[in-house]
Amino acid sequence: MVASRSSSQPDWEKLLMEWDNQQEDFIPDREQRFKTILDLLEAILSRRFATLDLGCGPGSLSARLLERFPRAKSVAVDYDPVVLTICKMALKRFQRRIIWVEADLGGKQLAKVLEPFKPFDAAVSTTALHWLYPHQLRLLYNNLGKVIRRGGVFVNGDRMPWDSNRRRLLQIAERVKSLRGSGGNQMWHGWNKWWNDLQGDAYFNELFRIRKTRFPEIHSKANALSFEFHRKTLIDAGFRDVDVIWQDLDERIFVAIK
Ligand SMILES: C[S@@+](CC[C@H](N)C(=O)[O-])C[C@H]1O[C@@H](n2cnc3c(N)ncnc32)[C@H](O)[C@@H]1O
Repeated sequence: MVASRSSSQPDWEKLLMEWDNQQEDFIPDREQRFKTILDLLEAILSRRFATLDLGCGPGSLSARLLERFPRAKSVAVDYDPVVLTICKMALKRFQRRIIWVEADLGGKQLAKVLEPFKPFDAAVSTTALHWLYPHQLRLLYNNLGKVIRRGGVFVNGDRMPWDSNRRRLLQIAERVKSLRGSGGNQMWHGWNKWWNDLQGDAYFNELFRIRKTRFPEIHSKANALSFEFHRKTLIDAGFRDVDVIWQDLDERIFVAIK
């Protein structure tokens, strides 16, 4: 058995930076994708708005949003106490404009939990909703329909593969990724190292214990759902004008207007 290292205070900003580095192995255009999401918010809402960051992780998207829009606010939601703690500490400088909420995005209670902070002008999310199973995504979108104001917007950037009757497109996308030197098993190296280093730090022991009761696996076993599934589910939840506005292979950003 390997003894845990003890760390009194982790270097929070370094943890967020290392998170960003390993995420770029999966999404080489990640910064461009963040910028496009923020450009869309500015085009639709101008520069003062209240937003929800769904599956905020250690805070990459909220940090960029609050940096770029000094009059914006963010409610950052995640159910993993490990990454939410990093988000709280690494984004402390924004504490007047950010609220951290520990909640299950796929749970029935989400609208109730968010009730005190609504209405939202926008919800945003990156690389998070592929963790959800279809019934959880349906619940989430119904809850979003309740907390986003009319005329508000939901912008999601994530992997959305083609559905099974267009498997050939998926195979082509995978081939392009390997030609670019991304994709395949090597991209998990940095991700595994980030999580292993964190698990080796005694500071996080109790947070990992709680995490395990909520996420028995280190990554969800859900399969990323197609854009068609997202679109139909959002329309059912009261959104309109739902379409992909940016795409690189199966990485897409879609916009949905409430
Ligand atoms: C790959 S990370 C993305 C983090 C961040 N948005 C980014 O782009 O770097 C996915 C995040 O979704 C969160 N997540 C997954 N399922 C969730 C759920 N049911 N409720 C709340 N958060 C969830 C995970 O805990 C994780 O922080």
